[in-house]
Amino acid sequence: MVSHRWTPELLAVTHFLTLGFLAMSMLGAMMQLMPVLMGMVIPRPVLFSNLIHLPLVLGIISIGLAWLLQINQLFMVAVVLLGFGFTAFIIVMAQYLFRSKNTHVTRSMMLLALLALLFTVGLGLFLAMNYSWQIYPLARLLTNLHLSLGLLGWVFLLVMSVAYQVIPMFQITDEYPALHQRWMGWVVFICLIGLSQNYIWPQVWLLEELKTLSSILLAGCLLIFAISTIRLLQKRRRQLPDVTMRFWQVAMSSLILVTLSWIIPTLMNWDSPILLLGVLMIHGFAMTAINGMMYKIIPFIIWLHLSTHNKKLRDKGTREAQLKVPHMRKIISETAGFWQFRCHLSSLILLVMATIWPLWFYYPAALMFAVAQFFLLFNLLKAVRFYNIKIAEFSVIAQTTS
Ligand code: HEM
Repeated sequence: MVSHRWTPELLAVTHFLTLGFLAMSMLGAMMQLMPVLMGMVIPRPVLFSNLIHLPLVLGIISIGLAWLLQINQLFMVAVVLLGFGFTAFIIVMAQYLFRSKNTHVTRSMMLLALLALLFTVGLGLFLAMNYSWQIYPLARLLTNLHLSLGLLGWVFLLVMSVAYQVIPMFQITDEYPALHQRWMGWVVFICLIGLSQNYIWPQVWLLEELKTLSSILLAGCLLIFAISTIRLLQKRRRQLPDVTMRFWQVAMSSLILVTLSWIIPTLMNWDSPILLLGVLMIHGFAMTAINGMMYKIIPFIIWLHLSTHNKKLRDKGTREAQLKVPHMRKIISETAGFWQFRCHLSSLILLVMATIWPLWFYYPAALMFAVAQFFLLFNLLKAVRFYNIKIAEFSVIAQTTS
């Protein structure tokens, strides 16, 4: 599977992670956070999320199975389902973001991230159609463009825009410097456009210089973001041990490592260690940051929903029916989070070693990765169960008091 980057199994796993884990969490987070952070109201949110959730789940399974079982028709099924799910999401979200009165920088960054997602998905659909029909010779330069826009545009820009909001809010740190917030997203996006030209017209000589310049600037942005985040976290005001902070630190260290492992070979004209870059960027940076954020965002949303229920009861004058809403840190226990963090970090280290010595580390890495992910699922399901129990208690009390 890891003998080279184009094995069907590796492409399937890449998309189970980038679409199944990253995109699903990111779309969900956007739908939950946009009303809270930007005061936007999405009408009929449950209907809307069901409408895009089902086609995306089926589309992700189809594209994964298309690679794993080598059934070309499944690529077409995936194209239809993923095309519908992503297009509906992008159109609705972009329209609300455009109309929002909020002027926070997160709004423009989210719009840039959505634009990058639009191009990533467009190119992905084109490449997948090509597997089914094989009208064009497989254009691997387009694949490079697709993955750069996906990982550095969509994923990086969205994680950065959410970090601007959630790191000061949940980690009790200072804000990111104003200049950083104002320009970083735009510079990253412009650099990506610069880099793209080289993938679109590889023969044009001047574009080689543009690619080098864009790569240096982009690497600078990634490093500045990672170092600023680590420094903000070091100076946070609340010094309690916090599992989300550990996840952020690992995510930022991975971002520094992936940037150096990419920019040094690029400038020296060496071959890039592509599997290492994939592991550090997808697992080390993106999955780690999202895994850590889940431990704050999910308890926060549960706490918010339960508090809203209590408020409704207070407004109705049935104060005695209120439930005790526990502190956010109690909804997912810190100890469970820390053990999952240890498994996650071990799996990252083993995966990095597996890219260098696959014969030795491939199976232990895969096993540890599975353990870490099951542990995360277990912790999240416990939080959801807690929420369902509380909601059931609410309805019992509401019935007895009415
Ligand atoms: C509708 C959604 C998507 C579709 C249909 C799709 C389809 C594809 C296809 C067909 C390829 C292989 C091209 C080839 O063999 O040259 C590919 C490669 C790749 N895609 Fe996607 N993709 C989608 C979304 C994404 C997203 C959102 C990301 C990242 C956030 C992503 C990351 C990648 C990566 C990293 C590779 C290259 C793997 C490698 O170099 O080994 N894809 N995609």
